[in-house]
Amino acid sequence: MSTTSQMLRQVTPEALDTLGSDDPAAQRSRRDLRRLHVAMRTLSIMTRAIGAEPNHSPLQILELGAGDGSLALRFAHRHASQWPRVSWTLLDRQDSVAESTLQGLRATGWEPIVVVADVFDWLSRNQQCAWDIVVANLFVHHFDGEELRHLLRAVSGVTPLFFCCEPRRNTTALIGSHLVGLIGAGPVTREDAVLSVHAGFRDRELSAHWPSQEGWSLHEYSAGLFSHCLLARRT
Ligand SMILES: C[S@@+](CC[C@H](N)C(=O)[O-])C[C@H]1O[C@@H](n2cnc3c(N)ncnc32)[C@H](O)[C@@H]1O
Repeated sequence: MSTTSQMLRQVTPEALDTLGSDDPAAQRSRRDLRRLHVAMRTLSIMTRAIGAEPNHSPLQILELGAGDGSLALRFAHRHASQWPRVSWTLLDRQDSVAESTLQGLRATGWEPIVVVADVFDWLSRNQQCAWDIVVANLFVHHFDGEELRHLLRAVSGVTPLFFCCEPRRNTTALIGSHLVGLIGAGPVTREDAVLSVHAGFRDRELSAHWPSQEGWSLHEYSAGLFSHCLLARRT
C-alpha cells in the first residue's frame, strides 16, 4: 500500500465503467455504492454544501454521472418539503435508474429526467441550457488533465453553482478503500474503491482545474473521513 507522500494522482479506468447496466456484477456494485454513501455520509455532506443554497422554485438540477439515482432519491426525501418543485436531470452513460427510483422521485413532487449520454457529448450540445445547480458524486475523479479542465469549463458555462463530492486521496481513505469488503462490497467495488482513492483529490487540485478564479468563489475542502469536495459559486 502506498503512503500519502507517494500518492501521486493516478486515474485508471474502473471496472464498473466497463460493465453493461444489466450485468449482475454492475448491479451488485451499484448496490454497494449505496452502502458506501451511507458510510461516507455523502447525503449529509451534500446537504451541508447545497441544502441551504437556492431560495427560489422551481429548481433545475443536473446530476452528472448519476448512477442509479438513489442518492438523488435520498436527497429528494430530505429536501422536497423545502424545495417543492425540482426538475432533477440524471445524466449517466449507463441506463441504470430503476423505475421504482423514478416513481419515488415523482412521489416527492420532483420531476426526474433521465439522460443516457456521455457527459462531454451531452454538455457540448447543451451549452445554451441553464441549471440552478449541477452536482456530481464519485464522478469527477474519472477525469484528469485536459479532460478534467474541459469538463469543469463546460459545467461553469451552464450553472452558477457546482458541487462535487469525490474520493479524498490520503492514507485514511486508502485504508478505508481496502476495507469496503467489511460492509459487504463485492469484487467490482473492492477493486474500484482502491482505484478511486488513487484518482481522488486533495488540497486545491479541483480548483486548479476550474476555468477561471475570477467571477467565482471556490471552496475546496475535505469532508468526513473519505471525501474531498468542491463548491463553486458564481459571484
Ligand atoms: C462511481 S459511479 C458513481 C455513480 C453515482 N454518482 C453514485 O455516487 O452512486 C460513476 C458513474 O459515472 C458514470 N460515467 C463514467 N464516465 C462517464 C461519462 N463520460 N459520461 C457519463 N457518465 C459517465 C458511470 O456510468 C457511473 O455510473
